[in-house]
Amino acid sequence: MSKGLSTPQAAAHAAEGLEGVVAAHTVLSDVDGQAGRLTIRGYAVEDLAHRAGFEDVAHLLLDGFFDAMPSDLAPALGAARVRAFAEVAALDEGLAKRDPVEAVRALIARLPDGDGLDTALLLIAAPAVFTPAVLRVAGGQSPVAPDPALSHAADMLAMTRGVPATDGEARALDAYLVTVCDHGLNASTFAARVVASTRAGLTSAVLAGISALKGPLHGGAPGPVIEMLDAIGTPDNAEAWLLNALARGDRLMGFGHRIYRVRDPRADALKAAIRQLAQNASLASNAVPGRLAFAEAVEQAALRILRERKPDRALETNVEFYTALLLEALGLPPASFTCVFAMGRTAGWIAHAREQLATGKLVRPQSVYVGPRTKAAA
Ligand code: ACO
Repeated sequence: MSKGLSTPQAAAHAAEGLEGVVAAHTVLSDVDGQAGRLTIRGYAVEDLAHRAGFEDVAHLLLDGFFDAMPSDLAPALGAARVRAFAEVAALDEGLAKRDPVEAVRALIARLPDGDGLDTALLLIAAPAVFTPAVLRVAGGQSPVAPDPALSHAADMLAMTRGVPATDGEARALDAYLVTVCDHGLNASTFAARVVASTRAGLTSAVLAGISALKGPLHGGAPGPVIEMLDAIGTPDNAEAWLLNALARGDRLMGFGHRIYRVRDPRADALKAAIRQLAQNASLASNAVPGRLAFAEAVEQAALRILRERKPDRALETNVEFYTALLLEALGLPPASFTCVFAMGRTAGWIAHAREQLATGKLVRPQSVYVGPRTKAAA
């Protein structure tokens, strides 16, 4: 955009945070921030979350980007989980005690780079296998091997707990993975595409994606959502707590989005999945409906306050608010939430990496130098 312009003119065109800049054409997903719609390869995300499993949607994303794709991805992904488990031998207690996303990233970094379907499936399998292993080893337990016959979601829960999950729990995690599998050119997907454009390989692209995802302004937000809910404690305390947080200059986690000016459609898809989970009679306690009602009260207070305090910016609930509640209801610890996000999003990163690679073009934007002009050395 700034090609050939002198510095002051180019500076006028520089978009901080690349806001509003179009950096790719994609067939993968479309985020309509005005209408609050997310379309993944032609399907509304709510429909996919309701009707499709993660393996189906991963297939949908990868389709056309690899030769010889199997018609059913489930057996190949199950086999890839078994392959990924071999890397768990490298997990020692010191690594397991790190922030889980750092430990999972370190294990992913051990996987060889490549561009083929085998590498892609190994990378999609990796967070599902490494996250449970990290949690268990950090807690002094042995890792549990995958069962390739289970669904990706059911196997991840079984590897985490050491006992099988119920169908309702597996279905809830499945709905979550589908809901977060792709989302236009978000920060982590862009990072993955930049690395893919250098032809470094899919493992490198996924490592870039997970590194961008871990930040609290992106996929690191749901853990802090739980901290916020716990600090608020009761609905009566919500207003005062939220006002104090804003007065300190804090951001309310789980609210606001670069693209959405209305409610993030994924928030409702996840809320529906939590409701479904709460109706499941096999749940050990009825804590979930109570927690959901409390969170809804906090959400209403936050939206009211954000409208009052930030009238110039449409700040609505984003995906991370209900991500936090869903993953908490599944008994997953908040420290692992970003890893579980990566479990779903890796499929999107890989599809985008392959799409970027197919353009053959290196991503290399320009910057505007605003520092001092050349000085004579002293
Ligand atoms: N709480 C309070 N104020 C907010 C929030 C928030 N959650 N989000 C944005 N704002 C305010 C900013 O302070 C700023 O106000 P100002 O103009 O008075 O300074 C204004 O809104 C614009 O903020 P920007 O950072 O320029 O907007 P941007 O589009 O870059 O922000 C972001 C998007 C980073 C997600 C932001 O809304 C945020 O920090 N939210 C909280 C963290 C969060 O929930 N992250 C998860 C996002 S979803 C995902 O990535 C999967």
